[in-house]
Amino acid sequence: MTATIIDGKEFAARVRAKVADHVTRLKDDHGITPGLAVVLVGEDPASQVYVRSKGKMTVEVGMKSVEHKLEADTSEAELLGLIDRLNNDPEIHGILVQLPLPKHLDEDLVINAISPAKDVDGFHISNVGLLGTGQKSMVPCTPLGCLMMLRDHHGSISGMDAVVIGRSNIVGKPMAQLLLHDSCTVTIAHSRTKDLAEVVRRADIVVAAVGRPEMVPGDWIKEGATVIDVGINRLDAPEKGEGKTRLVGDVDFDSCAARAGAITPVPGGVGPMTIACLLANTVTACCRANG
Ligand code: GUN
Repeated sequence: MTATIIDGKEFAARVRAKVADHVTRLKDDHGITPGLAVVLVGEDPASQVYVRSKGKMTVEVGMKSVEHKLEADTSEAELLGLIDRLNNDPEIHGILVQLPLPKHLDEDLVINAISPAKDVDGFHISNVGLLGTGQKSMVPCTPLGCLMMLRDHHGSISGMDAVVIGRSNIVGKPMAQLLLHDSCTVTIAHSRTKDLAEVVRRADIVVAAVGRPEMVPGDWIKEGATVIDVGINRLDAPEKGEGKTRLVGDVDFDSCAARAGAITPVPGGVGPMTIACLLANTVTACCRANG
């Protein structure tokens, strides 16, 4: 079987177009411009790239974008002070603190200082609890993007066997919750899982979110399964020239695509959907704030 390539770039462009329409209506009919504040502490190069990209797309869909770039040695009190100001700023509807934070800052404390209503990442403990119990919440952007691609490709995923590889709070756990809400039979696999190959071979849907380059080989994939690759790993690519790199996912694309029914590429799969969902969450937060 040769897999259908799920084009996340094209899908994300459609989602952003819908968000832009919604933003236009909010401005024209209600005089409201949704605003997203992104906070970056320190100079992690990958985080700088993500934050730039988020800011650019926020402006492109007509929303207000505010970036706060703080020194790597910013104190917890200073960061909490900024979050408090953003929580109370009526022009800001979404707040995202880029992770990871420098080691001296307590990530849980910082995330839980964000007003749950403005927590467009869906990482606040209130939103985690609401999602876990199937109540209205902010849903983390990467798993939401994965779910949208699965629903778009399959229509319904009810009753399917899904394996999520990776148990992070950002992707693995919320992904499993979303699949469960859509009536999949869900297994969360991780580094201690016994016979991972056998577990993955049973799956109709495989979501790989482990952060290990090309870890899943094609012979683990059931014929016709759908593979969602969340990984973004940078490998040296001396064949492209000195110092050059290439991006790869957590699955070995060529061998998995040879067996899968559908697969997301890296780049151009989950990545663009994550940012599109962040923009959609910001509009949702803005609508909820304004009744
Ligand atoms: N770092 C990597 N992914 C994410 C994300 O989705 N949200 C935030 N805040 N930080 C991240």
